[in-house]
Amino acid sequence: MTQKLVVANWKMNILLHEAVALLESVNIGSLHKSLVICPSFIYIPTLVDAFKKLDFGAQDCSANDLGAYTGEVAAAMLYEIGCKYVIIGHSERRISCGEDNQTVGRKLVKALESKITPVICIGESLEVRNQGSTLEHLFKQLEEIGISRNKKFVIAYEPIWAIGSGVTPSVDEVKAIFNKIKGAYPYLQLLYGGSVGPENADEFFGIDVLDGLLVGGAGLSAQKLNQILS
Ligand code: 13P
Repeated sequence: MTQKLVVANWKMNILLHEAVALLESVNIGSLHKSLVICPSFIYIPTLVDAFKKLDFGAQDCSANDLGAYTGEVAAAMLYEIGCKYVIIGHSERRISCGEDNQTVGRKLVKALESKITPVICIGESLEVRNQGSTLEHLFKQLEEIGISRNKKFVIAYEPIWAIGSGVTPSVDEVKAIFNKIKGAYPYLQLLYGGSVGPENADEFFGIDVLDGLLVGGAGLSAQKLNQILS
């Protein structure tokens, strides 16, 4: 990745008219970083059509091929409507939908088969952090998802306790974790996510082994996005 990547995960927020207004206020013409917006599935076709200079991603895809899976969205469908990325294994889905590493691994395969770049989320709970087992946990996740040591994947490290909490690990902690991961998986592109905003984005961008950021709340404000992207 030459330019740093900023992936905005909108989660189940904002209505379509608000999404259009927000993106109209993003300084798309003068971006210094690559921006990927991940809206609700149903907004993607409209936004892809309206904002041709932006890249879009989905927040999930099915682990299955086309078929009888009520309510699911296949990676092949996402590709057809212009999605370039898909977030896979976000902790909110792991917690609320019971997704395990094996399921995340199956989704990863489906995304790759459909020529969509997966942004694979990993991260530890506060309990795991307090036990001092963060690295062990992250390596287990990578292993069980089936991340190859000699392939290029985008991994987003999002400590669960940092999401939406206003609390983050220190830059040094993230750097140390990324260096360990890169030592074993040299081709991975590593993003950090969890309570990132304009006030701390530059500190994280300062980590040499960091390829980008996955933002939640800050991605719902054009002003904050413009600051992070500047
Ligand atoms: P916040 O940036 O709101 O903490 O959310 C992070 C996140 O979950 C992005 O996927």
